[in-house]
Amino acid sequence: MAIIVPNVNPTTIEDWACSAELTNSFLLEEDQVMRAALKNAEDKGLPHEIAVPAEQGKLLQLLATSIRAKRILEIGTLGGYSAIWLARALPEDGELVTLELNETYAKVARENIAIAGLSSKVKVVVGPAKATLAKMKPEHLFDFIFIDADKASNTDYFKHAKRLVRRGGTIIVDNMMLVGLVANPTYTDDNVEGVRALLKELKNDPDVDCTAVGTACYKGFDGFLYAVRK
Ligand code: SAH
Ligand code: DHB
Ligand code: MG
Repeated sequence: MAIIVPNVNPTTIEDWACSAELTNSFLLEEDQVMRAALKNAEDKGLPHEIAVPAEQGKLLQLLATSIRAKRILEIGTLGGYSAIWLARALPEDGELVTLELNETYAKVARENIAIAGLSSKVKVVVGPAKATLAKMKPEHLFDFIFIDADKASNTDYFKHAKRLVRRGGTIIVDNMMLVGLVANPTYTDDNVEGVRALLKELKNDPDVDCTAVGTACYKGFDGFLYAVRK
């Protein structure tokens, strides 16, 4: 594989893509299941380019593995790409519940989860996530929650996540930086404002310990919030 020599100041999307391609080529296995899932999502017309990139999917899997997660909740399924990574962290009797508004996306996600042989562990729930979350009163709390749906609802999702995760459990929120738009005061759309509202809520939130780190990839840069429930 030809590796393009990057600019010494890694500022362009191509620079990030180049670095990820190199490290991925050493650390991520060729993955026929993910390839088939992505192709199916693409064939069915899903905007699969908004799914997490492979190296972030694997990070989610490893984070869930490292806390021996048995119950995982995801908000925002799309074609089930991140759900498959996360479900791979689960033991035989583990469970992942993933919430999706769009019925067509949910159908494709179920197909992909079947391709991955994970149907027995994964439940895709269709509907507006806020309404689904409000109804959830699980007997056992979740170990790990990944929030990746409409950013405008981030504060609502995070409040539910705090209620639904066990003490010491993990909450990850995708898209905390939005290629710099969150830090740029001239942008005020609903998604950007949703991320800002969550940051305001998190300042001095006694229930969680948090940090956010950049996640640069071929799509540009964004960020993961990593929160541990106290
Ligand atoms: N986590 C996925 C990507 C999710 S993209 C992955 O990395 O593979 C965001 C998803 O959130 C989209 O599929 C969108 O339909 C869904 N979504 C948007 N608004 C929603 C809502 N109100 N309730 C539930 N899902 C929603
Ligand atoms: C969008 C959503 C995401 O979760 C993401 O990671 C990138 C883009 C979007 O809705 O455009
Ligand atoms: Mg996302």
